[in-house]
Amino acid sequence: MRHRIDVMHGVNFDVLGSRKTENYGGLSLTELEVKIKQFARGLEMEPSFSQTNHEGDFVERLHRAGESADGLILNPGAWTHYSWAIRDALEVAGLPAVEVHLSAVDEREEWRRTSVIRDLCIGRVQGKGPEGYREALELLKAHLQ
Ligand code: DQA
Repeated sequence: MRHRIDVMHGVNFDVLGSRKTENYGGLSLTELEVKIKQFARGLEMEPSFSQTNHEGDFVERLHRAGESADGLILNPGAWTHYSWAIRDALEVAGLPAVEVHLSAVDEREEWRRTSVIRDLCIGRVQGKGPEGYREALELLKAHLQ
């Protein structure tokens, strides 16, 4: 059976292509998703994608995630650093999840080093750009097998 992975992007990812290239590489979200689809195909996994700038929508998608996914890749953007609501919703989802950041959050501003979801995730990848999503898929595949 192919593992179904919900790849969830949070706030400001709709404008990814307009964000600082030194941090985010200049790819649009659509281009990033095409890459993730290619990684997933190589691993025989089935990705689905969402993005929202609304915290409540992100929370509600997490509530429903178990209906259609076996695992999660989460890049909640800035919410990672302070949204206890997203943390609680991830607990409700009860699915294996990997936290991904395109940029090296641990080497940027102090406030980006905090992640309120970190200990609920089976892994965390940061600072590897789009390749980080391949690593996240591999972690989930190994975990789900
Ligand atoms: C990010 C890192 C966050 O600190 C930031 O707020 C983002 C993107 C990343 O992918 O590097 O929006 O999650």
